[in-house]
Amino acid sequence: MTLEVRIGKLRLKNPVMAASGTFGPEYGELVDINKLGAYIAKTITLNERVGNPPPRVVDTPSGMLNAIGLENKGLDDFVKNKLPKLKNIKIPIIASIAGVNAAEFGKLAKVLSRTERIAAIEINLSCPNAPYSPRGRRACPNVQHGKRDFLIAQNESATRQIVEAARKAASLTIIAKLSPNVTDITRIAKAAEEAGADAVSLINTFIGMAVDIETKRPVLGNVTGGLSGPAIKPIALRMVRETYEKVKIPIIGIGGIMDYKDAVEFILCGASAIQVGTANFVNPRASIEIIEGVKKYMAKHKISGIKELTGALRK
Ligand SMILES: Cc1cc2nc3c(=O)[nH]c(=O)nc-3n(C[C@H](O)[C@H](O)[C@H](O)COP(=O)(O)O)c2cc1C
Repeated sequence: MTLEVRIGKLRLKNPVMAASGTFGPEYGELVDINKLGAYIAKTITLNERVGNPPPRVVDTPSGMLNAIGLENKGLDDFVKNKLPKLKNIKIPIIASIAGVNAAEFGKLAKVLSRTERIAAIEINLSCPNAPYSPRGRRACPNVQHGKRDFLIAQNESATRQIVEAARKAASLTIIAKLSPNVTDITRIAKAAEEAGADAVSLINTFIGMAVDIETKRPVLGNVTGGLSGPAIKPIALRMVRETYEKVKIPIIGIGGIMDYKDAVEFILCGASAIQVGTANFVNPRASIEIIEGVKKYMAKHKISGIKELTGALRK
């Protein structure tokens, strides 16, 4: 029996990764990161971003809203200061990138592909807290969504353009991270596939909000935020299933995965691998327990490889 999976040129020893922005080396004392299939870093941008005003997170029934706003110190700092600190990570490191236009995505992909440590790039086309401007001027998400702003993954041609730019700039495995804030996610997945993505990961968070009835104000400083956690799992499963029926490239399933049973549900719906996000805040060992659980499930059901389970949902 093997848990090994292939995503583009990536060979993962198991299909479990921690989702971007929800897990970092600081968990190292609690969890052996090297047991995961891959490590995905928090999304970085070309230049430093201060992120959104507080409050940035709020609990919701069976989930949470976050509006971090892609706070990060930028590409140079990542390459010079953050990457060297990841020297104890022996599993593939996947960088996550976001930009305000195709040129920025291309530059990020190019620079990262030259650092020997990065094994793949996840392009974040779907951060609900940092909308994209087709004219490339929007750099700050603190302002309310303007007329022309949207998430890249809400538009087929923008998705195509950004994936092509990253594809051109880097020969590494390219994973396009999609948004659930669309009518038909399969059209966006197809556009990413046609533009050269090696895989799609879905889903990022749903745009939502919370209200304080005493102050009569939105709870989050950014007004809206991204909903994650168990509340979104049924919709994520449906989206993975629909996408599996339309694209040939591997799908990485994300959305409310808390234990191995959730992971197996995503794999049955068509995921070749999965990512664990909000669960890390509840139980930092969630990903490790999921790997152990999937292994036991496969042994119990006499399944020899993940491939055998991927898409094996019965009608
Ligand atoms: C606090 C927080 C920060 C996040 N930051 C990022 C990020 O930097 N880049 C990204 O692609 N997704 C980010 N996400 C989205 C997650 O990677 C994931 O797609 C989403 O939370 C759904 O999975 P989950 O329900 O397991 O959390 C973030 C989510 C949370 C809760």
